[in-house]
Amino acid sequence: MRNSDQTLIEAARQARERAQAIYSKFKVGAALLGGEGKIFTGCNIESSSYGLTLCAERVALFKALSEGERQFVRMVVVADTEALTPPCGACRQVLWDFCGDLDVMMANLKGNSKRTRLSSLFPDPFGRCFL
Ligand code: THU
Repeated sequence: MRNSDQTLIEAARQARERAQAIYSKFKVGAALLGGEGKIFTGCNIESSSYGLTLCAERVALFKALSEGERQFVRMVVVADTEALTPPCGACRQVLWDFCGDLDVMMANLKGNSKRTRLSSLFPDPFGRCFL
């Protein structure tokens, strides 16, 4: 595993601690590596109107976009699950829209991790080419 992967995992773990997940109690952290090496983190933020909840992945992505980042290399998702937690369907779509075939890494608090690509998690995507 690359050094930068450990840095990203640690950033996502720390972001997870800041999760606002009082309803589900399911805390998730994400770290998104930008093209110039900058790391953007996110945690899930839940609302009493449940559907307004935002996942950690989209929080990280929207922070990055709002700060002007346009190149994305890798996203790490951390949750406290035995089976590694992948991005949900909504996040897969939005990540595809802005990051294309991103490198995605999932990790848990026990130190297990695995790497995949967004195109494997999200085959036959809808996207701007259809519009
Ligand atoms: N969640 C994420 O933040 N990312 C995922 O990849 C899966 C789900 C959040 C949304 C909600 O706050 C909680 O986890 C339970 O679904």
